[in-house]
Amino acid sequence: MAIDYNSLIPNNVNLSDNRRLQRALEDWQPKFLDWWGDMGPAGFQAREAYLRTAISVDSQGWAHFDYVKMPDYRWGIFLAEPEAERKVNFGDHKGEAAWQEVPGEYRGVLRRLIVTQGDTEPASVEQQRLLGQTCPSLYDMRNLFQVNVEEGRHLWAMVYLLDAYFGRDGREEAEALLQRRSGDDDKPRILGAFNEATPDWLSFFMFTFFTDRDGKFQLASLAESGFDPLSRTCRFMLTEEAHHMFVGETGISRVIQRTCEIMRDFKTDDVRKHGAVDLPTLQKYLNFHFSVSVDLFGSEISTNAANYYTMGIKGRFDETRIGDDHKLTDASYKVLEVHGDGFREVEASALTALNERLRDDYVADCARGVMRWNQIIKRHGIDFELKLPHRAFNRQIGQFAELKVSPDGKIVSQAEWDAKHHAWLPTEDDRLYVISLMKPVTEIGKYAGWIAPPARGINNQPTDFEYVRP
Ligand SMILES: [Fe+2]
Ligand SMILES: [Fe+2]
Repeated sequence: MAIDYNSLIPNNVNLSDNRRLQRALEDWQPKFLDWWGDMGPAGFQAREAYLRTAISVDSQGWAHFDYVKMPDYRWGIFLAEPEAERKVNFGDHKGEAAWQEVPGEYRGVLRRLIVTQGDTEPASVEQQRLLGQTCPSLYDMRNLFQVNVEEGRHLWAMVYLLDAYFGRDGREEAEALLQRRSGDDDKPRILGAFNEATPDWLSFFMFTFFTDRDGKFQLASLAESGFDPLSRTCRFMLTEEAHHMFVGETGISRVIQRTCEIMRDFKTDDVRKHGAVDLPTLQKYLNFHFSVSVDLFGSEISTNAANYYTMGIKGRFDETRIGDDHKLTDASYKVLEVHGDGFREVEASALTALNERLRDDYVADCARGVMRWNQIIKRHGIDFELKLPHRAFNRQIGQFAELKVSPDGKIVSQAEWDAKHHAWLPTEDDRLYVISLMKPVTEIGKYAGWIAPPARGINNQPTDFEYVRP
């Protein structure tokens, strides 16, 4: 399905046939561009970056590469191809034709879900806006900008749904999405992890590995939605999201690679004096980003999650590939709870445990990445293993929020937490050290000393390609 690039707003939804919607979006477009100018990558708006743009949503056309100045990036509305005779695949409406309009009784709930997802997209651009100034290479700078323009496009995707299907309230929400600001005291972004600072590239790579991966699982469960336009929107967003997680996984891999080379070559654990990030510090950053990201899945037991499912609005990860009744009214699911001075698994209603199930899928996906990182360490003959912390560690949301728990899953006293948390989470010193490494490297083909060059470039270009022009 080709994208109409001749209109002001590139799209594959025949926007020109819907004058009302077209006007609403054309009215929002300059406000978006103002927001991008204020809150997008600071200092690089006039630079030409080698970016990927979708020219169609099929496998050939969605990855078209060219130089573009970010404000000229053609943000638009791209939905995955419709699936013929698609059905609602779970919940009370299972078997009915998928909805092409919002069912009246679910309007408020759907709008809330779309706004919450939409809010994360500009938030991450805001969190990352200063990183271009300390990039470890032009290759990394380009990847950052690619992530940023695509998060901008994800905002477009959600705003399209709000404007197309939610009338006046949708338009108001679309405006509000440009008014909240990450980390702002008065108008913060909706979710906690999206108000944290991303002050350095180690945090950026951890964020794209852990927090963008939350995005993958949220989008995947919304892609199962009985509301077909939401499903098609999310399915296309997922193709873009994969690159963000690639940036995170390979970014951390390259940091580990460099650290291990220095450990091996200099026969030392004290890699800081050689300008690299020591493995214990990496573990602390991992602990922090994992714990704020698992919070994004919400409470372990949630009637909201049960309702979204029963309504047919938000499914499970890979819903249609699961071999059960897709109603879950009599099913149970194992959930961890506090028991005495430890934890135990209990059977909970599968419906109210849906957040926890999605979190389990997420944790398993994270663990696969961590395993690949550990293989790099092992290949260098180094006896150190990165680990995901226990899921109750450092939580702010859900039943573990009141507890102090060590990364290996022991409930500890406040006194023990106070004495040991500096070994579990990045300290001010750790952060200052990491920030001290963040000196921009912008010569073609050069890479900062704390990170190895990538194994290959973008779109088969060499690693010494001019990914961003001066
Ligand atoms: Fe996104
Ligand atoms: Fe993303």
